[in-house]
Amino acid sequence: MIDVELTRIGQHSDEVFSLSFRATSGEPLADASAGAHIRITLPDGAERSYSLVNPPGPTGEYEIAIGLKGRPAHGSRYLCELAKVGDRFRMSPPVNRFALVEDAPHSTLIAGGIGITPLWSMIQRLEQLERPWRLFYAMRHRDSGAFLDRLEALEARQPGRVELAIGDGAGSRRLDIEAIVASTPDSGHLYCCGPASMLDAFRTATLHRDASTVHLEYFGAQKRELSSLGYTLELARSKRTVFVPPGRTALDVLHSEGIDVAYGCKQGICGTCETRVLSGTPDHRDEVLSDEERVSNRTMMLCCSGCVGERLVLDL
Ligand code: FES
Repeated sequence: MIDVELTRIGQHSDEVFSLSFRATSGEPLADASAGAHIRITLPDGAERSYSLVNPPGPTGEYEIAIGLKGRPAHGSRYLCELAKVGDRFRMSPPVNRFALVEDAPHSTLIAGGIGITPLWSMIQRLEQLERPWRLFYAMRHRDSGAFLDRLEALEARQPGRVELAIGDGAGSRRLDIEAIVASTPDSGHLYCCGPASMLDAFRTATLHRDASTVHLEYFGAQKRELSSLGYTLELARSKRTVFVPPGRTALDVLHSEGIDVAYGCKQGICGTCETRVLSGTPDHRDEVLSDEERVSNRTMMLCCSGCVGERLVLDL
């Protein structure tokens, strides 16, 4: 973990804030690759993950963008509304589970709302490399988007690369994810970050493609909302059913029911609690699985991941 200091709080719009941090030691921060995220420890001990939006490369600061739409998580509200320049935090080094394939012949990026953050970092990297890319970006209204002025400037410079789908006002429209995927050459790589409904459509549209070319990531606030109603675990081998209420992990609930599951870090880092999923869609929150393993949904880490939907069937 690194000790960092908040150096700037800015606003992209009514709903989107940007925050910058530097090391309190004054040392440069480690390089971060496009798509990387960091974890911040808040004063109450809670941890929150945010994608870095800096252009990749050596930098004196890390910048994140946070959306406050709907019911934002407590930590996001704290950082945007209560934290002050000069406040100190503990931060993990950057981790990248959503890495850009830099030598892909083409990159298609699909974002929803604040899900633009890792993709904005990728666009800056692709521009540095002069690689071809297209962005399809959906948002409820302009205030729920970020980096719009810079995206529009890129589009003006080379038309045909940025398509915005703004859900309100005259000419409101939605993205046709199936058509976007179909229009991407087989050798191209596809990236998606946004709300669950968008990711579900993306998963369905990309099922027939080579899994190594398909990359997706939930953004933090959405991940927490997905399991906010709790979900049911069906244990196929022991023929038992248990309910995981909001705020508890599957591992905790299984242990309190007397079901023995091996664990180590309880932070989604060591992989000890990895368990086979027979049915249902996990909400992956670990740092262990690769993009391909996440998309396949064959296993999950019970100590930290949740459920997209109401039920998971596990090989337990
Ligand atoms: S206990 Fe370490 S990943 Fe779950």
